[in-house]
Amino acid sequence: MSLIKVCDEGQLKPGEMMAVENDELPPIALYNIDGTYYATSNICTHAIAILTEGFLEGDTIECPLHGGAFNAKTGEATNFPCEEPLQTYEVQVKDGEVFIEA
Ligand code: FES
Repeated sequence: MSLIKVCDEGQLKPGEMMAVENDELPPIALYNIDGTYYATSNICTHAIAILTEGFLEGDTIECPLHGGAFNAKTGEATNFPCEEPLQTYEVQVKDGEVFIEA
């Protein structure tokens, strides 16, 4: 396991999300939900869609393609047609920097 820096803490405000682009990581969506960071795969498990092009409402990430949804904290599929959960990643915040465990 190694920690990979993905952004500075202030870069993402509560309610915002971003696509993490880092050669050492698969495509990851990073979310700030009420001041806590969470990370999941950025690829919908229903078909191929980029989740950060969808909508974050509370802790729900809605896919832009067919309206499927997931819990961004747990990766659980919460709305049809999504059934398979998203992979989640551990996020750590240290000294004002945000890291993902890979
Ligand atoms: Fe995400 Fe279909 S690709 S709901």
